[in-house]
Amino acid sequence: MCGIVGYIGKRDVAPLLLEGLQRLEYRGYDSAGVVITSPKATGLKMVKAKGRVRDLEARVPKRFTGTTGIAHTRWATHGAPSDENAHPHMSADNKVAVVHNGIIDNATELRAKLEADGVVFLSETDTEVLTHLVARSEAPTLEERVRQALKLVEGTYGIAVMHADFNDRIVVARNGSPVVLGIGEKEMFVASDVAALVAHTRQVVTLDDGEMATLKADDFRTYTTEGSRTTATPTTVEWEAESYDMGGHDTYMHKEIYEQVDAVDRVLRGRIDDRFSTVHLGGLNLDARAARGIRRVKILGCGTSYHAGQIGAQMIEELARIPADAEPASEFRYRDPVVDPDTLYIAVSQSGETYDVLAAVQELKRKGARVLGVVNVVGSAIARETDGGVYVHAGPEVCVVSTKCFTNTVVAFGLLALHLGRIRDLSVADGKRIIEGLRKLPGQISEILAGEDEIKKLAEQFTDAKSMLFIGRVRGYPVAREASLKLKEVSYIHAEAYPASELKHGPLALIEPAMPTVAIVPDDDLLEKNRAALEEIKARSGKIVAVAHQVQEKADHTIVVPKNEDELDPILMGIPLQLLAYHTALALGRDIDKPRNLAKSVTVE
Ligand code: G6P
Repeated sequence: MCGIVGYIGKRDVAPLLLEGLQRLEYRGYDSAGVVITSPKATGLKMVKAKGRVRDLEARVPKRFTGTTGIAHTRWATHGAPSDENAHPHMSADNKVAVVHNGIIDNATELRAKLEADGVVFLSETDTEVLTHLVARSEAPTLEERVRQALKLVEGTYGIAVMHADFNDRIVVARNGSPVVLGIGEKEMFVASDVAALVAHTRQVVTLDDGEMATLKADDFRTYTTEGSRTTATPTTVEWEAESYDMGGHDTYMHKEIYEQVDAVDRVLRGRIDDRFSTVHLGGLNLDARAARGIRRVKILGCGTSYHAGQIGAQMIEELARIPADAEPASEFRYRDPVVDPDTLYIAVSQSGETYDVLAAVQELKRKGARVLGVVNVVGSAIARETDGGVYVHAGPEVCVVSTKCFTNTVVAFGLLALHLGRIRDLSVADGKRIIEGLRKLPGQISEILAGEDEIKKLAEQFTDAKSMLFIGRVRGYPVAREASLKLKEVSYIHAEAYPASELKHGPLALIEPAMPTVAIVPDDDLLEKNRAALEEIKARSGKIVAVAHQVQEKADHTIVVPKNEDELDPILMGIPLQLLAYHTALALGRDIDKPRNLAKSVTVE
C-alpha cells in the first residue's frame, strides 16, 4: 500500500528518495512521485508518473538537485492510477506539496466547498483537498497551517508536507497510518515503513496517532495535533538493510520460504524453560492469576494472519483447554460484538499496521477488554495499542504474500498455548513433549525444503487447472485454508478450502478429473476419517495430492512431511504447499513478489 519517504540534510536528495521508494515497492503501488527543494531555492520542483519507480526515474530531469524532499508510492483509492493522481499534490501557486497515506473520509464534502470558493483541482484524489487546505491557511507557521488543515479533515492519514516559504523543514503528522522518523547525523529522514530507513539510520521514532513532528536538518521535535510537546525517545531498529536484499534467490518469496528454518529458531530462542516445562514470554503482561481467570480466547486478524490465528485457537483450545476461536478482524468490528471481560482478545498482525485489526483493537480497548498482540514489527501501532503480547521475530518480510511470518506466528501461538496450558492443567509430561516438538521444528523444516524439486515437478501439472480444492479436518482445515489462499494470491488460480467433513454436503458435486484436490492428512486420530474423504474423491475420478506423514494409497501423489507432535503438525504441513503455490506461479510467469491488486500492508479500510 502507499509509501512515504522524506529527507532533509545535506545530501543530493533525489537519488536518495528514489532509492527509498524502491525499498517500499514491495508494499504494492501503481504510481510514484517526488518533490524537492534546497535552502537557497525559491520554489519546489516536482516529478511524478504512473507506473513503477523506474518510470519515475526515467522522467527525472538532469538538473533535479536539492537537499530536502518528500516522495511517495501510491496505491489508488480515490481516482484511477494516473500521472495526475500520483502524489505529491501541489497547490496552484506551487508552494505547498503534500504526500499522504490513508483516506480522507470527508474529501467529497471538502472538495465541493473548496470548488465553490474557486479552487481548481488537478486530480481526483482525496489528498489534494489537504494540499489546498494547507495552502489557504494564513497562520504564521507551517506547523499551524497543517494543524488547521487537519482539524477540518476526517479519516486516516500519514502525511508529509513541504512549503516553499518554510523550506528549512518538513512537517509530518499521523492518524491511523504509520509515520516513522529516522534520526541521522545532521540529517533527518521520514518514512511510512522502516524498510526505507535502515540503509541510512537505525535510530527511529515512531509517531503515535494524533502526533505531528517537525524535521529540520539538525533537529526534530514532536507534538500533538493540539500543539503540546511530546517526548520522543529514539529506539534502535534490529532489522538490517541486508534483510531487504534478495540474497541470491530469484524472488523474495523463495528467500523467505527458505528463511523459515532460522526464523523459527529465532522465535524459540531464549523462551524455553526446561525446568518447569514451559516457556517465558517476557512481553505478555499477563500474570498467572489473570491467566487462570480467562474463560475464552478470541483471536482477530486478516488474511494470512487470520489463518495463523485459526491454528493458534486450535492449539490454545487443545493445550490450555480454554475455548478459543479466530475471526476476521474486519468482520468483528462491524458486527457490534459482545465484549466480555473474561475473554482474552488477541490481535494478530505481521505488519502491526493493518487498519481493520488496529480499529478492532481500539474498539476493544475502549470497552475495557484485555487485548494482547501477536505481531512481527516491533513498536508498530498494534504492538503499542495492545496491553502486551508476543513478538514473532520473523524479520522483515518483503514478498506481498506471507510465508515466514505465517509460520513464525503459528509457532508463537504454540508458545502461548503451552504457556497458558502450563499455568492451567497441562501436565509436566505434556509440556516436555511439546517443548521437544518445538525444538524439532527448524530441522524438520529443512527436511521439507530439501524436497523442493519434487514439489516443483508436481506444480507443473497444475498450471492448466482452472480451480483447485483444498481440504482438511480440524487441525488440518486452517492449513488447507492458508494453502488455498497462497495459491490464489500468487498464481491467480481459483482455489477453495473446505473442511473434509463437509465434502458430501456440496463440494463433491465439483469433483472430476479437471478439478484437483489437495488434502491435509496427518497421522492423528482423524487419519481414517481423512482417508474416507480421499476414497470419496477417488470414486469420482478426482485427482488427489495428499500432504501426509505416510504415503496415501488413494492419492495420486503424496508429499510426505516429517511427523511432529499432533498439536504442532499444522506448523509443518503448510510449508510444502507454500512451495507448490510458488512453483505453480513461477511456471505461469506470475509477478510472484507483487501479485496484481494486492498490497503487503493494508493501512486503509
Ligand atoms: C494483506 C496482505 C496479506 C496479509 C494481510 C494481513 O492482505 O496481502 O498477506 O496476510 O494483509 O496483514 P498483517 O500485516 O496484519 O498480517
